[in-house]
Amino acid sequence: MSKFNPDEILGEILIDEATLSARVQELGKQISADYADKNLHLVCILRGGVVFLTDLMRAIKTEHTIDFMAVSSYGKGARSSSGQVRLTMDLKEDISGRDVILVEDIIDSGHTLANVLEILQTRDPASLKVCTLLDKAERREVEIDLAYVGFEIPDKFVVGYGLDVDEYMRNLPYIGVVKDGAFID
Ligand code: IMP
Ligand code: MG
Repeated sequence: MSKFNPDEILGEILIDEATLSARVQELGKQISADYADKNLHLVCILRGGVVFLTDLMRAIKTEHTIDFMAVSSYGKGARSSSGQVRLTMDLKEDISGRDVILVEDIIDSGHTLANVLEILQTRDPASLKVCTLLDKAERREVEIDLAYVGFEIPDKFVVGYGLDVDEYMRNLPYIGVVKDGAFID
């Protein structure tokens, strides 16, 4: 018996595959237009952002490069972050003079992103913006300017399309809502 059976632990599909795909195409178009003459560099935060990044970059028609970084939050809780983050894997390339878009899966409290932006800003990018697939706006604890948002979603724990529960279910092609009480952590 599988612990991560979608039929058992998901209450509903919040965003289906076709809706995700259509929105990613729109974001790609918008970014292509906004960055037509820029030195675009997409920075993906591992691991949650990776599925979104790989679709988004193919929807961006202007030339660009990509890089990856990984962070972990201090403090407990897979479902929320408490404040400071630690860089567990840094970027391969220098971002100075580049027009960076940080590609994220979801912004919840905003602490992770605020910390990452602070770190990247010290490296003198020409510009630094954020593109997030999902925005749980009602959970925000720090104010952050989000240039591109795929979907604003309610305060529910979601998985799929890169987002995990205990590192599983990232492969689901849609965004599903985990039932209340499906996991007690
Ligand atoms: P923040 O620092 O509170 O904004 O937390 C952001 C991080 O928490 C995301 O990058 C995710 O890794 C994780 N997270 C927040 N909400 C969810 C969710 O609903 N599903 C899966 N991961 C989530
Ligand atoms: Mg993340």
